[in-house]
Amino acid sequence: GGRLVRVLGIESSCDETGVALVQYEATAGPTTAQPAVPQLLAHALYSQIDMHRLYGGVVPELASRDHIRRVLPLTRQVLADAAVSLEQIDVIAFTKGPGLAGALLVGAGVACSLAMALRKPVLGVHHLEGHLLSPFLSADPPQFPFVALLVSGGHTQLMRVEGVGQYELLGETIDDAAGEAFDKSAKLLGLPYPGGPILSRLAEQGNPQAFDLPRPLLKGKNLDFSFAGLKTAVLTQTRKLGQTPEALEPHKADLAASTQAAIVEVLVKKSMLALQHTGLKRLVVAGGVGANRELRRQLNQRCQRAGVRVHYPELHLCTDNGAMIALAAAMRIQAGQQQPDTDYAFDVRPR
Ligand code: KG4
Ligand code: ZN
Repeated sequence: GGRLVRVLGIESSCDETGVALVQYEATAGPTTAQPAVPQLLAHALYSQIDMHRLYGGVVPELASRDHIRRVLPLTRQVLADAAVSLEQIDVIAFTKGPGLAGALLVGAGVACSLAMALRKPVLGVHHLEGHLLSPFLSADPPQFPFVALLVSGGHTQLMRVEGVGQYELLGETIDDAAGEAFDKSAKLLGLPYPGGPILSRLAEQGNPQAFDLPRPLLKGKNLDFSFAGLKTAVLTQTRKLGQTPEALEPHKADLAASTQAAIVEVLVKKSMLALQHTGLKRLVVAGGVGANRELRRQLNQRCQRAGVRVHYPELHLCTDNGAMIALAAAMRIQAGQQQPDTDYAFDVRPR
């Protein structure tokens, strides 16, 4: 066999500090075969949700400070869990962006300092590529090519994916992201941060047809999305129902279910359209909203009928984590898309 390459990954773009270690076997020389998926040796995650909840959303400065507190202990934990020493790390990867500038700088700064001390190269990873490739860590990994539905708090995109680093944008949101639509609607319903998962849990007790909410661009033939109108419609509904939390209370579950139904219907419709347009028979769903149960249920149903195989990340790897960053770095190196280097400038790209 080839030499084992170990990649440490650090994610700190928003409100989760994630560290992970993956390993793959380096092949001698270029091969045409798809290399084996890197193996996840260990990963650790610290969520700052409890701290930010007090403020109703992520406070960037507090996020940065908490990343500083967490990143080294998490790194030690990962190395201990994997029984790997610092010196046995070959590459250190970090999230380069997009994300909160100060938060990104923590991960990038620690990654580059560690790498410099260890005389090992670094590799900055695009956060979305991490999400996109995260389903490769599942028990049922996809094969290229596929259509990807990337749905996070900051992005909503459909892509044609031919291989690592070979991405063609098919459509994206022209305003809010799907996760943002979940979060903003949840806030209007008076639900605590983070809105998305809480709204979706409440939705399970409500009637998705109770309120007729807009589904912008649903009928359009292109693959773009628009969710900004939805939060306005939810706001209008909450006003109609009365200004007080007491007046809203009996309708909350129905409103949550109707909101979720509107978002999911558009996501499902456009994903199926993207599959039709490309003629591909594989769909990969990634990003935080990919954890949504109703989205998974409807996609599974439609894909089964259409003879399409659908792949998701493991539930705990849907939202931000270090494993997807270590994995994306390893897969980029394997694919010859990028080589890690010793430029320790740690430039981050918040946007
Ligand atoms: O990918 P992610 O962790 O961070 C970004 O890169 O943005 O995604 C976070 C987003 C948030 O908007 C959150 O509300 C949403 O994913 N989310 C969900 C669910 N779990 C997370 N939205 C709907 N249903 C869920 N179960
Ligand atoms: Zn993310």
